[in-house]
Amino acid sequence: MPPIIETKDLKRDIKQTHAVDGLSLSIEAGELFGLVGPDGAGKTTTLRLLAGLLDITEGDAAILGFDLKSKAEEIKPHVGYMAQQFSLYGELSVLENLQFFAELFDVSPSDQRERTERLLSFAGLTVFKNRRAANLSGGMQKKLALACTLIHQPEILLLDEPTTGVDPVSRREFWNILTELHLQGTTIIVSTPYMDEADRCSRVGLMYAGKLVECDSPLNIRNKVEGEMIELQAEDWQKALETVSGLTGVHEAQTYGESIHLLVDSGKRRLPEIQRVLKKSKIGYRSIRIAPMQMEEAFISLIRRMEA
Ligand SMILES: Nc1ncnc2c1ncn2[C@@H]1O[C@H](COP(=O)(O)OP(=O)(O)O)[C@@H](O)[C@H]1O
Ligand SMILES: [Mg+2]
Repeated sequence: MPPIIETKDLKRDIKQTHAVDGLSLSIEAGELFGLVGPDGAGKTTTLRLLAGLLDITEGDAAILGFDLKSKAEEIKPHVGYMAQQFSLYGELSVLENLQFFAELFDVSPSDQRERTERLLSFAGLTVFKNRRAANLSGGMQKKLALACTLIHQPEILLLDEPTTGVDPVSRREFWNILTELHLQGTTIIVSTPYMDEADRCSRVGLMYAGKLVECDSPLNIRNKVEGEMIELQAEDWQKALETVSGLTGVHEAQTYGESIHLLVDSGKRRLPEIQRVLKKSKIGYRSIRIAPMQMEEAFISLIRRMEA
């Protein structure tokens, strides 16, 4: 099977910026692909290019075997795109918003009735169907936007930061819906600033300055970062941070609340050294241990390496 989405050296300039700068990406049908990267990395531009909303400056892209430059109209019915700043009609009810998008995509009235019921229940919005979109919570608005994106039953979903700014419970609900769609065989590309979400993807692409700098399973991405994590819970974390961050073998130090995560070359070697230094500096600590590498640390470390 050829890839469902394929780009070759894709470029898009926006004013003086190479917003997307030579992106070669191949996505198989049924993947749940996470696009991560700092602000300005080019995630939105990539998704907008794939949605056929921006012209390609250079390079090629094909979706379902159709050339994006010449066959955008053939591609459109197969793709659902949810923008970062998606627009619902605040004055319209939940139901009316779904009807609006159904008509936009020429969904027949009988399909529309059947799908509306199903999507409302899928998104947990049935009881709110007559409420105006403007009066929904942020999380419910995102779910409604997703339902509107699904009304024409696209095989490919392009979702641009669909959960940014949403509370953790709603984020989890939204991801349960995505997982369900993934299990049904929908191909999903989703950009996200949340590393726990990246961890739920089958593959993750890390973008930086318009380029794809890493592309692999979450596990392999974590393993790419050499070294190990030491987690330290010190009594005076600020003093502890100052003391340990410059030590030999400590590549990075991040704080998470009151705990400090140290990326070190070798946990076994540095753990006793760090303990000695803490003792000598009279810094008390509740715990210190070698901890598993998190996606967030791997990500930060890879980005730091780019910036170095
Ligand atoms: N309308 C615009 N005008 C000027 N620069 C833009 C515009 N849209 C995007 N850019 C630039 O293109 C680059 C990529 O942006 P974007 O695709 O929005 O990144 P991301 O979604 O990863 O934050 C950034 O440097 C951004 O400043
Ligand atoms: Mg963006």
